[in-house]
Amino acid sequence: MSSGRAGRARPAADAGRRGAVPVAGPILCVETSCDDTSAAVVEAAQVRSSIVSSQNELHAQFGGVVPEVASRRHTELLPTVVAEALVAAGRGWDDVAAVAVTVGPGLIGSLLVGLAAAKAFAYARRLPLIPVDHLQGHIAANYALGVEPPFACLVASGGHTLLAVVEEGVSFRVAARTMDDAAGEAFDKGARLLGLGYPGGKELDALAARGDAAFAAFPRAVPRGRDFSFSGLKTALLYDLRGRAVEEAEAHRADIAASYQGAIVRQLVDKTVACADAEGLRRVALAGGVAANSGLRRAMTERCAAEGLHLTLPPLALCTDNAAMIGLAAGHLPAVPWPDYLALDAYASSGLKRTLRPAPRRDRR
Ligand code: KG4
Ligand code: ZN
Repeated sequence: MSSGRAGRARPAADAGRRGAVPVAGPILCVETSCDDTSAAVVEAAQVRSSIVSSQNELHAQFGGVVPEVASRRHTELLPTVVAEALVAAGRGWDDVAAVAVTVGPGLIGSLLVGLAAAKAFAYARRLPLIPVDHLQGHIAANYALGVEPPFACLVASGGHTLLAVVEEGVSFRVAARTMDDAAGEAFDKGARLLGLGYPGGKELDALAARGDAAFAAFPRAVPRGRDFSFSGLKTALLYDLRGRAVEEAEAHRADIAASYQGAIVRQLVDKTVACADAEGLRRVALAGGVAANSGLRRAMTERCAAEGLHLTLPPLALCTDNAAMIGLAAGHLPAVPWPDYLALDAYASSGLKRTLRPAPRRDRR
């Protein structure tokens, strides 16, 4: 991703370009953009270790992530999580060649905890630091499977839903985006309406697996263009549940969940395949927490097979937030030499524009 952003918020790729130094050896990676505290060791594009300490239980009582609570918990968990990642990789501090860290987008307090820690680790050992954009990280999860760009990547998480045309490395152009909610948000809000826990995507997925997706007909209400829209679907679920007797809704919870998931998945699959077609791309990939959805993985696999598209599905552990994906992205980004990164700042929103890096349309590849 390149950027035209100005001011404090500075996307990773630009920050790195200020002084690139090559990195050979293990990269210690830190990811704290939301409510997962994660560290990993990635070396030569291989994930040596990946530790994720979820704060889900802590936030579940509030029905959503409380930013201040998340930041404080990151400060408590990070030292242990980093130590565990090094041990699991069989590495010591003296082996670390560089530190990679998510600098945005995400919760600013959470990001700052990870960035401050990463700067401290790197500064103390005079190591270079690689600032990484969270979305580039999600996309790079696919590099664990060796996919070759160019490819169309559906990035669907709790905070973002977009179609990225990945040109090379982790540079991408936004071909489509959601006009309202993110797909993960649609899952989480739907889960809440169905009386499931937080975050509800995974639970809704499990419930839907036992249901009949043809039970309720949710309107597609999808915008005609390339972009996504999920807020109408969430409202449709609300009215569907309101329109049923309590006993009926309870008896058919799995069927309603399956129908609701089916409507989200249908839109994600249709728009992704249409994007690949419009861009002349033969390779498709998934990224982000929603890429863990079993219905999406199945439907995308079937559809891509039917269309003759090559599909990459990242391993489940690399779909939801994790530091290993940050290390996989770091391998495609320049490192900032010691101590130039001390002034580096985090950014809360991506400021993505539709054509960050315009690429000519190509013939089908
Ligand atoms: O990428 P991620 O871990 O964090 C963000 O960057 O937002 O994505 C989290 C989102 C949540 O909305 C969560 O409910 C959703 O991904 N999610 C799922 C599944 N696993 C996680 N949604 C549907 N099905 C799943 N199996
Ligand atoms: Zn994420």
